[in-house]
Amino acid sequence: MTTDTTGYKPGLEGIVAAETTLSSVDGLKGELIIGGFFVEELASQASFEEVCYLLWNDARLPNAQELAAFKQELAAMRAIPEATLPLLEAAARHKVPAMDALRIAAGSLDLDLGETDDTQRARALTARIPTVVAAYWRLLNGRQPLAPRADLDHAANYLYMLTGETPSAARVRGLETYLNTVSDHGLNASTFTARVIISTQSDMVSAIVGAIGALKGPLHGGAPGPALDMVFEIGTPEKAEPYLRAMLDRGDRLMGFGHRVYKVRDPRADVLANAAEKMFLADGDMRLYELAKHVEGVAIRLLDEYKPGRNLRTNVEFFTALLLHGLEFETDLFTPTFAVGRVAGWIGHCFEQQRTGRLIRPQSVYIGERERQWTPAEAR
Ligand code: ACO
Repeated sequence: MTTDTTGYKPGLEGIVAAETTLSSVDGLKGELIIGGFFVEELASQASFEEVCYLLWNDARLPNAQELAAFKQELAAMRAIPEATLPLLEAAARHKVPAMDALRIAAGSLDLDLGETDDTQRARALTARIPTVVAAYWRLLNGRQPLAPRADLDHAANYLYMLTGETPSAARVRGLETYLNTVSDHGLNASTFTARVIISTQSDMVSAIVGAIGALKGPLHGGAPGPALDMVFEIGTPEKAEPYLRAMLDRGDRLMGFGHRVYKVRDPRADVLANAAEKMFLADGDMRLYELAKHVEGVAIRLLDEYKPGRNLRTNVEFFTALLLHGLEFETDLFTPTFAVGRVAGWIGHCFEQQRTGRLIRPQSVYIGERERQWTPAEAR
């Protein structure tokens, strides 16, 4: 083993690589601040358009006129370029996962913009990613994509394009709270990817395509289903304790609990639990919500018993899965819907990075051989 004197940090853990006014994640306090607001204050009250504006305008909220104009600008850009649909049709024929379809289509989203700047690209990407996801989802399920409706706000229109129905206010609020909650989260892997790409003076579409690629991986946004599968398998409250004990006795991890950064609680879990409760209440069927809350309570009690001192608490995935399931989203739609929300933060970070004008270019430590002698191929 070599003694490291270079400051090398695997995974860049603890390295500060940006200054930001967009969000602050404090894992020891269990705190998430977005644009100066605690997530608990912002997520359930703001519209998604307000959060975009906040993240793209140096933490400034729009007044009523600015908000109306901004909503209109976004709504006017929702239709995808003509060439994007055949790409999605081809992807559906191959039945690729929705995140792959989004990655394929995202690169084409500025095709019809002509000579343009990153502000326009930012609007087009934000407005069109939901159109891509909804169109692909319908194609994959043998249905025709629906044209976006300019009379609906961003979140409502996404639900409409998926289902063909005008969604209830409670469902729109549920989705909007989710999108706001995940809109930004410090220098996570996809956000860092976007910042690296834009720091080369590349364009916004390239940065967002890269970020989508990073988000897709199961260590980031790509594995939200298992927490809900666990609740379904438990099925009834009395089975929760034996089921969870059996998992812990086998040394399995309880899905939806614990977090690398949040060591007291994941504040997003509370926000989404409240949003899910309101939405299920409005829909009139609380059975799944009540079962999930019961499973959560038993899980925390057992985690304290089996892993004392670890303080393992519910993470964002647990209630994300419950909320999105309540919106009738299938599991394969969870990560693309995460992208629908996180694009707001990616773009905010790109603008911030552009203002620094600084190329991101860390170093590596060479640990290979030196002074090798060349051998021609036939002599190897
Ligand atoms: N269930 C049971 N035990 C757990 C859990 C869990 N969910 N999470 C951590 N532990 C235990 C570990 O077994 C370990 O115990 P030990 O020291 O006795 O071996 C101890 O707690 C610490 O575990 P680490 O892996 O060091 O904790 P870390 O902070 O690295 O893990 C992680 C974070 C990966 C999220 C983990 O808690 C986990 O696997 N959770 C379940 C999967 C999950 O919910 N993933 C989604 C995370 S949210 C997100 O990524 C956006």
